Amino acid sequence: MAATDDAFEEIDFEDDDDLDDGAPERAKQDADAERTPSVVVDDVHVRYRVFGGRKRVSGPEMGRIRAMFNRSRRHVGAVTEVHAVRGVSFVAHHGESIGIIGRNGAGKSTLLRAIAGLMPTSSGAVYVAGTSSLLGVNAALVSSLTGERNVMIGGLALGLTPAQVRERFDDIVEFAGIGDFIDLPMKAYSSGMAARLRFAISTAAVPDVLMIDEALATGDAEFRERSAKKIEEIRGHAGTVFLVSHSMRSIERMCDRAIWIEQGQVVADGPAREITAEYRKATKKG
Ligand SMILES: Nc1ncnc2c1ncn2[C@@H]1O[C@H](COP(=O)(O)OP(=O)(O)O)[C@@H](O)[C@H]1O
Ligand SMILES: [Mg+2]
Repeated sequence: MAATDDAFEEIDFEDDDDLDDGAPERAKQDADAERTPSVVVDDVHVRYRVFGGRKRVSGPEMGRIRAMFNRSRRHVGAVTEVHAVRGVSFVAHHGESIGIIGRNGAGKSTLLRAIAGLMPTSSGAVYVAGTSSLLGVNAALVSSLTGERNVMIGGLALGLTPAQVRERFDDIVEFAGIGDFIDLPMKAYSSGMAARLRFAISTAAVPDVLMIDEALATGDAEFRERSAKKIEEIRGHAGTVFLVSHSMRSIERMCDRAIWIEQGQVVADGPAREITAEYRKATKKG
């Protein structure tokens, strides 16, 4: 990756310690675009306010989640507060693919929503160089509308013009591999088809920062292969990819770095294989 985008050089990352080492260090970073920050997350806290008192949680996660809620719960009348992200900091770079791992309820989705600007932080700051696109299991597609209408809505939401969406329409449908289903309401889709269309829409604009929240889990092997290629393409354009997944194999195959989050805090951050190995050991799963 040779050239640095001018737009990114205007962003002020002076707060980051890594960049404060003076001129020689900076020259080295210019030579290597991968070391240019694309996302800076600085001591971010996110709190949800839940109205209507206690939240009931059941299932095997209950004990752990309840313990966490009790620690971070504050009753203000009928309002309960869930402190979902608690002081997360890291710097992501251009061309980096970062896996986010951690148990259910750890705060992974909330963190991605905060990075995408969809969720206000209660303190701390997020800096993103360029455009970002969050692809999640809850991405805002409308199930009563056809795939075609959703492609248009999703494309516009990504900042494409109607003409650009029409131009890319066939590619999107082909990438999603859903054929004639594109003319049916999305509620008629299998979860795999919906996930594939979501992925195809989200990557139609080649965002600078792509966030994928467990969306690959439902795809078949062939689609996973295409997704991996797309991720490579985005990284090749010096973009940054975040991938939330429970599959340690996906993380190891697609990410060079992993951040392990538990109870809203970073437990470990480092080379993907080291972090997944630690996580496997701690959770006894593969
Ligand atoms: N919309 C919401 N309202 C209130 N609490 C929420 C909401 N979404 C998530 N939470 C809580 O925030 C915490 C983190 O959730 P989440 O970010 O979804 O975790 P993960 O994606 O790692 O499973 C959990 O305790 C969850 O119950
Ligand atoms: Mg989640």
